[in-house]
Amino acid sequence: MSVKSDDKTYIANTYARFPVEIVRASGSLAYDENGREYIDLGSGIAVNIFGYSDKAWIKAVTDQLNTVSHTSNLYYTLPCVTLAKILCERTGMQRVFFCNSGAEANECAIKTARRYAELKGRKNSKIITLVNSFHGRTVTTLAATGQDSFHNDFLPLTDGFLYTPANDIAAFEKLVEENDVSAVMFECVQGEGGVLPLDGDFVAGIEKIARQNDILLIVDEVQTGNGRTGKLYSYMHFGITPDIVTTAKGLGGGLPIGAAMLGERVRDVLGIGMHGSTFGGNPVCCAGAVNIINRIDDQLLDGVMRKSKLITDALSDAEGVVSVTGMGLMLGIETKKDAGEIISKCMDNGVLVIKAKNKLRLLPALNIPDGLLMQAINIIKSACAE
Ligand SMILES: Cc1ncc(COP(=O)(O)O)c(C=O)c1O
Repeated sequence: MSVKSDDKTYIANTYARFPVEIVRASGSLAYDENGREYIDLGSGIAVNIFGYSDKAWIKAVTDQLNTVSHTSNLYYTLPCVTLAKILCERTGMQRVFFCNSGAEANECAIKTARRYAELKGRKNSKIITLVNSFHGRTVTTLAATGQDSFHNDFLPLTDGFLYTPANDIAAFEKLVEENDVSAVMFECVQGEGGVLPLDGDFVAGIEKIARQNDILLIVDEVQTGNGRTGKLYSYMHFGITPDIVTTAKGLGGGLPIGAAMLGERVRDVLGIGMHGSTFGGNPVCCAGAVNIINRIDDQLLDGVMRKSKLITDALSDAEGVVSVTGMGLMLGIETKKDAGEIISKCMDNGVLVIKAKNKLRLLPALNIPDGLLMQAINIIKSACAE
């Protein structure tokens, strides 16, 4: 059996895979079918925040597997409520809905916003998202995604979304004046869109206008969340108070979990039977997430900012590099040469890097040792300069 050729035959043809089969991995190192070692700067797309097969996380997960592996949401379980309580205590949010992915967390946020408006007699209100955003692949979260290229093959999408350009507060204000808007949803750093942080003034302006017009503030922290940008959640850099925070990816540390955290204004908007998920709040995923979230402390976050500076200092003025954007350990590197070519060169030299639009996107494990990180950065630097 050949994994690569069987994969091409039997797996739905939706992924452009790199020509590497990962057969084992530990920390920030992955090994292919030939035993070749790679420093992984993608972390399963911002998931493995403590690297592959982290020992403490494995223990938390396996202990839970040996206790209660799965039951339905018709019963109470400890890991799920423990995780919800920690998330609420650390964010000021009031309740959490658990699901299995980022798209599902955003679906919950969207349903909550619609129901919020409905309860106020505002039927058919709209949700504003940003041009160039990414919010998921379900039909509704595709509609929320402000990029036509994701829409075109799947029309008709869910109705009720309006798009406004990032960092243009006048355009946002105009849209609010002209429409009945229930919510605005955005990523503080547009990830798939090219690792582009929003301007602080724009985010503050959105919050102000949202408050004046009874518009819910939904922050999509699927990629930026769980320590990735140097704060527990990236909105914390901007001093705003969201009404809903969605997250997934790094929260589970390698098992599927999504969460929609609901603030005071929406804490009781969803009632019994209005939303649900068979696997949402699964005890094993939640036990792993409790382990992860409890380890995202000031020391780790300081390390994220320090490592971020190591990368930006090394790459900002490097030959062949046009710009470095992003926050913390979510960085985009715009290069003079084609990003795909540079990624291939890096792979040939033992470094795994992924792309966002025309940029290299660095999403290393938050605890990657400095030595390994700099070894990888030097390989990227050489590939950019060649
Ligand atoms: C900001 C953002 N929102 C939502 C999603 C969708 O998450 P998932 O793939 O877990 O459904 C992603 C995935 O990349 C994302 O980056």
